Amino acid sequence: MDKIIKYIESNKDRYLEELKDFLSIPSISNEEAHKDDVKKACSWLETHLKSIGLDNVTVYQTEGHPIVYADCMKAGNDKPTVLVYGHYDVQPVDPLELWTNPPFEPTVIGNKIYARGSADDKGQIFIHIKSIEAHLKNNGKLPINLKVIFEGEEEIGSGNLYKFLEKQKELLKADYVVISDTSMYKDNMPSICYGLRGLCFMQIDITGPNRDLHSGTFGGGVHNPINALAEIISKLKDDKNKILIDGFYDDVVALSQNERDEFKRLPFDEKKYKMDLEVEELYGEDGYTTIERVSARPTLDCNGIWGGYQGQGAKTVLPSVAGAKVSMRLVPNQDPDKVAELFEKYVMKIAPKSVKVKVTSLHGGKPSVTAIDTPAIKAAVKALKDAFGVDPVFFKEGGSIPIVNSFNEVLGADAILLGFGLPDDNIHSPNEKFDLNNFYKGISTVAYYYDELSKI
Ligand code: BES
Ligand code: ZN
Repeated sequence: MDKIIKYIESNKDRYLEELKDFLSIPSISNEEAHKDDVKKACSWLETHLKSIGLDNVTVYQTEGHPIVYADCMKAGNDKPTVLVYGHYDVQPVDPLELWTNPPFEPTVIGNKIYARGSADDKGQIFIHIKSIEAHLKNNGKLPINLKVIFEGEEEIGSGNLYKFLEKQKELLKADYVVISDTSMYKDNMPSICYGLRGLCFMQIDITGPNRDLHSGTFGGGVHNPINALAEIISKLKDDKNKILIDGFYDDVVALSQNERDEFKRLPFDEKKYKMDLEVEELYGEDGYTTIERVSARPTLDCNGIWGGYQGQGAKTVLPSVAGAKVSMRLVPNQDPDKVAELFEKYVMKIAPKSVKVKVTSLHGGKPSVTAIDTPAIKAAVKALKDAFGVDPVFFKEGGSIPIVNSFNEVLGADAILLGFGLPDDNIHSPNEKFDLNNFYKGISTVAYYYDELSKI
């Protein structure tokens, strides 16, 4: 291992230059205008995976964005097979004017690299690629049998990867799935994420009168779609932040006292949290701590809302349409399809007859949990300790990686989530960044981890 760690150390500068090159491709998956860029990022990976010496590097076309696969199966039948998963697509960059540096011109300031995708998830998949390189260049093979799969649709729900997984069970078969697409609990605190929330993403469209109207001439006579929408939204939760959708909590597994005690042991500075976000007071479900609210309890939030006049100054219009995007984070054992049905049923039940209401399900994903008392997790603890010099903590992330649950259901493989981002990396926001110390330590961690896994 010494040789490998030294190799990583002496190749840091080149690694960084390569990462910058990868980050400069604007692979935004939800914008049609960037379709070719998403493809370009996939080809970039294809070329790179070949150049580090992986075998069977193949790009699979899908109905959406392509998937790239590669492997190295030379460790022998007695060694475990590990599937590394990640995503090379990124979120849109808006609002662009809030970026200090252009999102696709990676800029290093101090110990951070700023670019869209730096932490989520290109920088983190590059951690794996570079530690694979370090093993291969020094030993000509890996200590484990390895498969990698990188997709371009994670940020839009992984729709085509589900289909691919069902069709390619044999190709993707593995004992463990290793993923780096989460964060550390905080700086200098290496972390293992043992749970992700699921997601159910809905859209509500309201249509009132058949055209925009003068709000003086018609106001008072017809139901304003924006008002109707606001009335509906206000009935989704009560004033204690309980979600009012009938049956919403039916499948929610209550938090065990043991887990609640563990959460209490995680450091959490409420004052600092509020200061960082510049809010006077925190807000959330009654009866739960902030850590529980943001990681282990279900939520409902509006992610977008539109209708009427948005331009400068005033315009006395009574709009014809209004709408909102509403998403719910889900916890074990909630099912996104079932929640989508409950949501639609409830909204239709409370919808006023004076407007037309349409509810559409956009995408979703199941929550996931990883058992922590396993040899693969023990190996991860050791690898993180070797690289960071301290014991890792265990925590649950509130975010979602939709395919993780399916790796378990379809392949029967546990997912081990080793995240190297930080909570303030601004993922999905302007000025996304990635800490370069964590990037390099991540590469060493993963190099150690492959080695540790080979001993199981
Ligand atoms: N890397 C994130 C998941 C994540 C978010 C992990 C926050 C840890 C903390 C992932 O790329 C992501 O953003 N997922 C989406 C999934 C959705 C679009 C289906 C999410 O959580 O919103
Ligand atoms: Zn993301």
